[in-house]
Amino acid sequence: MEVIAHRGNKAYTPENTMAAFMSAASYSISGIELDVQWTRDGVPVIFHDEKVDRTTNGRGWLRSFTYNELRELDAGGWFGEAFRGEKIPCLEEVVDWFKNQDLTLHLEVKKPPKEYRPLLDKALNLLTKEGMEQRTVISTFYHPLLKYMAQGSTEGFERALLTKTPLFRGIRYANVLQAHAIHIRHSYQAMHFYASWAKHGIPVRVYTVNRVKDALKCHRLNVNSIITDDPKTMTSVFKNNQKTS
Ligand code: G3P
Ligand code: CA
Repeated sequence: MEVIAHRGNKAYTPENTMAAFMSAASYSISGIELDVQWTRDGVPVIFHDEKVDRTTNGRGWLRSFTYNELRELDAGGWFGEAFRGEKIPCLEEVVDWFKNQDLTLHLEVKKPPKEYRPLLDKALNLLTKEGMEQRTVISTFYHPLLKYMAQGSTEGFERALLTKTPLFRGIRYANVLQAHAIHIRHSYQAMHFYASWAKHGIPVRVYTVNRVKDALKCHRLNVNSIITDDPKTMTSVFKNNQKTS
């Protein structure tokens, strides 16, 4: 069972910051999941919410800020004094650190602007230029993006269909989108699908699994990876069982 750290070491550090990624990397995880969005001036940045209010000292829509304006915000103080001064990282900064780690980058593309193609291409080109395309999994709830990526020049990336609920004829749908993996929110109803999808040879990765009991259940159902806020606990559970695929 592979353990993927959700937004970094989210349980103990401010999510989606360099502090969170570096802390997560101190455990024997297989990868880190993080969220990408774009600033008003088109810079890909790592951030979860549409508004900056919850995890910074600023207010307003992330998309209304330029990159320089965003860098003025404190993205750590809300979590704890020890993290005051953490910044919202841009994708470039994260990739620069990531390329020297033995980790898979799980990049979730959040709701993109209408004209997303040049922005997405720019982000993927950056990853390609840094030799990250074989180590990056792109996931998104916005499924037309997967189709676009499958048809474009950026087809070297693994692409994952991200869903909150089980999908009717999930494997067939993934094939139509040319997705390589399914990422699904953990629930009692969804559990019934894990083993049958895995049987088709498609990696099934489940989020957000924070209870040991649920992680063990996922393991029994042939789930490939769990995405967790608590990589410390989960890597201790699966310590001899990391890279299974
Ligand atoms: O990638 C899985 C998970 O991160 C999706 O939900 O809201 O935590 O980004 P969310
Ligand atoms: Ca995410």
